[in-house]
Amino acid sequence: MILGIECTAHTFGIGIVHRGKILANVKDMYKTEKGGIVPIKSAEHHREVAERLYIEALRKSEINEKDIEAIALSNAPGLAPCLLEGLRFAREKARKLGIKIIPVNHCIAHLEIGQSIGAKDPILLYVSGANTQIIAFAGEKYRVFGETLDIGVGNFLDKFARHIGCGFPGGPFIEELARHAKEENMIYIELPYVVKGMDVSFSGLLTKLQQLFDSGIDAGQLSYSLQETAFAMLVEAAERAIAHTGKKELVLGGGVACNKRLQEMCKIMCFERKAKFFCPAKELLTDNGAMIAYTGEIMLNAGISVNFDKLDIKPRERTDEVEVRWK
Ligand code: ATP
Ligand code: FE2
Repeated sequence: MILGIECTAHTFGIGIVHRGKILANVKDMYKTEKGGIVPIKSAEHHREVAERLYIEALRKSEINEKDIEAIALSNAPGLAPCLLEGLRFAREKARKLGIKIIPVNHCIAHLEIGQSIGAKDPILLYVSGANTQIIAFAGEKYRVFGETLDIGVGNFLDKFARHIGCGFPGGPFIEELARHAKEENMIYIELPYVVKGMDVSFSGLLTKLQQLFDSGIDAGQLSYSLQETAFAMLVEAAERAIAHTGKKELVLGGGVACNKRLQEMCKIMCFERKAKFFCPAKELLTDNGAMIAYTGEIMLNAGISVNFDKLDIKPRERTDEVEVRWK
């Protein structure tokens, strides 16, 4: 049994995995009514909920804590105060149980869990809060083929949502507004569309949307136009990666992958290219402990683990810096 802890940003989650099977996946998310994440507050949140979630995960999986073989911790990348809180908790448990810790890169966990449903050699479209990357595995690393040149698509959605008075996370609010607008047959508003090769950019689009909202245009109409534009950019970049590499599978991962319209657009593109489309269940897309435990188990099987007193956080570690020795 591997116990996984997710702590990198807004979510504290505990997952328990045994031979690739998820036995428990519980989490609690730091949310705000207005405004974005305050790192220290999010870390305080993690401290408050950690023990309760730990007990809940053990109960759900019907195991005793003595059955835990190792603890997988998302020690990178993320907000330092949140990572430190996770580290403190993981160390405390590992010391008490006399077991090792597996340091898991959070982004890699999003990618590994994305491939848990059958993809073999995919292009990965990783779309989350801080990250937007088009990735493929080659030569022991997840190589970044294309990425955002400024902000991640999730942060872009969250920023626009904040601007129009919604709380965090903003993605689900925008999805809802867009769905209503479409039902009401609102007209698509032309917006800046920026794709450079396999890279994308969202900051110009954000500024334009904020200006349009301030000039009195309906938030629903803007949300609808935003999704059609931003997601078309992502799908175009992913399609280029598929065409370029000749790969036949697309895996969608990260929190923004929850969005039904994005899923639909990816599906259509894959259908047209005769590629297979994969998207994991919603509870595995946004940050969660199960994806950390799942990845941790694969890594442990490849002999990767450290003593609890040797572990440190790496707030800025990039996806393509990690040596992937388990594939
Ligand atoms: P990263 O993985 O890059 O470190 P993160 O961990 O903050 O970022 P996730 O939990 O993977 O991100 O995803 C959170 C993001 O997903 C938020 O920006 C949120 O607005 C977005 N999101 C969640 N649900 C939806 C949805 N239905 N539509 C669009 N975006 C969504
Ligand atoms: Fe994430």
